[in-house]
Amino acid sequence: MNAVEKEIRELQQTLREHNYRYYVLDDPLISDAEYDRLFRRLLEMEGRYPEYITPDSPTHRVGAELLQNFGALEHRIPMLSLANALNEEELKDFYTRIVKFTGDPCTKLVGEPKLDGLGVELIYEKGVLVAGSTRGDGYTGEDVTANLRTLRQIPLRLQGRDFPELLEVRGEVIISKENFVRLNKEREEKGEKLFANPRNAAAGSLRQLDSRISAKRPLEIFIYAPGKIEGWSFKNHWEFLQQLKSWGFRINSMNTLLQGETEMINYFREMEERREILPYDIDGIVIKVNDLMIQEKMGVRTRTPRWAIAGKFKARQEVTQIESIDVQVGRSGILTPVANLRPVHIGGVTVRRATLHNQDEIERKDIRVGDWIILERAGDVIPKVIKVIEERRPAGTEPYRLPEHCPVCGAKVQQIDGGVAVKCVHRECPAQLKNGIRHFASKAAMDIEGLGEKIVEQLVDEGLVRAFTDLYRLRAEDLAPLERFAARSSVKLTEAIRASKKRPLKHVIYALGIPNVGEYLARILAEHFGSLDALLQAETEALTAIEDIGDIVAESIVKFVSDPDNRVMIKALQSEGIDPRLEKGSALPLKGKTFVFTGTLKDMTRDAAKELVQELGARASGSVSAKTDYVVAGEEAGSKLEKARKLNVPVLDETAFLSLLEEYRTKT
Ligand code: IVH
Repeated sequence: MNAVEKEIRELQQTLREHNYRYYVLDDPLISDAEYDRLFRRLLEMEGRYPEYITPDSPTHRVGAELLQNFGALEHRIPMLSLANALNEEELKDFYTRIVKFTGDPCTKLVGEPKLDGLGVELIYEKGVLVAGSTRGDGYTGEDVTANLRTLRQIPLRLQGRDFPELLEVRGEVIISKENFVRLNKEREEKGEKLFANPRNAAAGSLRQLDSRISAKRPLEIFIYAPGKIEGWSFKNHWEFLQQLKSWGFRINSMNTLLQGETEMINYFREMEERREILPYDIDGIVIKVNDLMIQEKMGVRTRTPRWAIAGKFKARQEVTQIESIDVQVGRSGILTPVANLRPVHIGGVTVRRATLHNQDEIERKDIRVGDWIILERAGDVIPKVIKVIEERRPAGTEPYRLPEHCPVCGAKVQQIDGGVAVKCVHRECPAQLKNGIRHFASKAAMDIEGLGEKIVEQLVDEGLVRAFTDLYRLRAEDLAPLERFAARSSVKLTEAIRASKKRPLKHVIYALGIPNVGEYLARILAEHFGSLDALLQAETEALTAIEDIGDIVAESIVKFVSDPDNRVMIKALQSEGIDPRLEKGSALPLKGKTFVFTGTLKDMTRDAAKELVQELGARASGSVSAKTDYVVAGEEAGSKLEKARKLNVPVLDETAFLSLLEEYRTKT
């Protein structure tokens, strides 16, 4: 092995190890910046010496191929489902059947959480990932290899020296509750359809024909079962799981070795309790006989094994009654109906209220005061009315209509969005002001600690605050007389308010409360405009040119910044000293870099590629010189490629180029 190949192999190995520490163990050893440096060095070396690129290189997770449709992949061993036990009795029945078979009242079992995602299979030949598929109908799945390769928790090559000739493993692809909420927020801002729950989000994200889209989704995986394995044998399931761990797979930390009926039942109860605080959705537990010999002897029914069972948790739907409907006024004046419910327990919490969203939703489901409804709580999502049980509707109910006057200030409301929503357009409506200030002070906005709901209420009611800037004029003496205010907390609050003047631009933009602009778009706007002054000049064309901003959002931003009152408000903030600029370089990670594109790219035009790098701050040049940072070479690249090699300029193929962009994008 020559020095170049040696360096490349070592870099690949080092990156694999850090990848594993970061994504699987959640315990990184080096900083992001250090990781980036290594990653870029590998890209550069592979660019110069493409003969040493291997498909299992950490730079080759994102491919450039766009599929027309998924191919089919047959499972060598069918992917079975599990029989269900709906309560403790049925779990005990299962255990009784096991004991009857083994004759051992203390049969060893493995308990695992039943992850609520998408079952997949991964195939490794000689330790290298060669294919991955969805469960499909259990016999044939879809070939989603390119998409699965983008999951950093999936090793592209097994760790260690010893592994089987053929290793098939099965696991569950999931999206955490937190990432699900964030993903949906972003989709809402972009005007895209929302995912109903984390499982749908995971399925939708994995089944993308363009693997670059999958790569951007926060997919995770846990491995829990074997497929076909050649050249290795295991005695029991627990040993299999431990071995998987040392090959670099992510195994669920809640998996537990159990012995006997009592431990099994306790595990079921414990997991049902823990369900709430787990970062991802589970819908039950899976109990498996540990001994693989016994598993084999017990065998399978048509579609389910006799040696395993799913212990399902209670459904998270309940029936309850709507006692009354309140109307809340948001910071943009939109009226939101909220149902007050006869309290019910769902999955360990008491639910008393549920949002009914808007007039449209109420009419579609014909929700009335007095109705009995089916209520569901899925994941961390707010309780939602699934449907009205019309058979149980009490006599004398009437269709519900939102009021014609604002319940807070009494002004007449207006219908917007073609009657979907109703809005109070009175500018001085105290509800809007209070909610606007609450939003302004919130963590993702100006992050003013101590400015909670009750305080805002008092500040507005006492007439101390009529606009955002009034906050910055408050003195501790003004606050001290208020209810529940000690001298010390007055000083603390004024200090917190003052400290908020230093918030970075994206938070200030978010704080303004522009309709349709959440945290995600605020960041995009900050990166794009760089200052409040520039944002004030925003025009529709400039806005719609930004990826992620559609016509409706652009219009709402222009409307907001051209409104005289809003302009006064922003100018006033600026004269209070709140006028952040985007720190140079942070948003434009490729600033100062020069790219040259040559040859035919498979997946995009050269112009599109140029735009991509320009968006990230780089220059695209037509000719190669010693100052060129990267040459991106497509097919049939000619003299520019030669020149790059002569000048020792790193050359990237299309895949490596996309990986590089991906690396930079995820870091901003
Ligand atoms: S083992 C023969 N273990 O549940 C055993 N499955 O109805 C096959 N699942 O499609 C699966 N968590 O997608 C197993 N810890 C776990 C699981 C699990 C979730 C899913 C899996 C399968 C379904 C079975």
